[in-house]
Amino acid sequence: MPIHRIAPSILSADFARLGEEVGKVIAAGADLIHFDVMDNHYVPNLTIGPLVCAAIKPYATVPIDVHLMVKPVDRIIPDFAKAGADIITFHPEASEHVDRTLGLIRDQGCQAGLVFNPATPLDHLDYVLDKVDMVLLMSVNPGFGGQAFIPAMLEKARAARARLDAYAERSGRRIALEIDGGVKVDNIGPMAAAGVDTFVAGSAIFGEPDYRTVIERMRAQIAA
Ligand code: DX5
Ligand code: ZN
Repeated sequence: MPIHRIAPSILSADFARLGEEVGKVIAAGADLIHFDVMDNHYVPNLTIGPLVCAAIKPYATVPIDVHLMVKPVDRIIPDFAKAGADIITFHPEASEHVDRTLGLIRDQGCQAGLVFNPATPLDHLDYVLDKVDMVLLMSVNPGFGGQAFIPAMLEKARAARARLDAYAERSGRRIALEIDGGVKVDNIGPMAAAGVDTFVAGSAIFGEPDYRTVIERMRAQIAA
């Protein structure tokens, strides 16, 4: 049985009170803090960088899961490692040399992950699995919170799970499978059944007054 983790995306938090929001959502049961970095180049939106990561670090008593939607990606990686990132994921389209970028993240002492846009094939995993700690499937096109889950991503999650299970069998190493975009209480159950173990949710959590209740309801659906 995989360990299921809920990773609230602070993209939908109140940015004027970010430290407090991070503390509150961890007290409500968050397992990771998902940190969305957008550059207005790789994706059409602009968010937060290493300075903000360092600023929330004292409040983050769980790992910070940095999702880089930036191009080029390599030169910002050491800054995020210094800022306290625990996991760093990036899109293969944003890297000239995917194997090198994965190595760079791990050399900085962080876990490394590859992110797949809805139309990006899983074949990018071929030949690099030994350097991957997490696979992140986008279930919306990246750039904004609050979009609708793309149903075809359930089939992709099953395909990813099969690859990762086959890899675990031959290597003895488990790679996490995360999903990001449109995750809600009423659709998280099928994602868990498809083999996802780590769930990013932004608007579904921060859009409600009581974070604990949403996270508990999500966990109940995962266990059902
Ligand atoms: C989108 C981001 C997501 C976003 C998810 O590009 O990567 O992490 O915050 O937001 P919701 O959960 O509202 O779809
Ligand atoms: Zn994200």
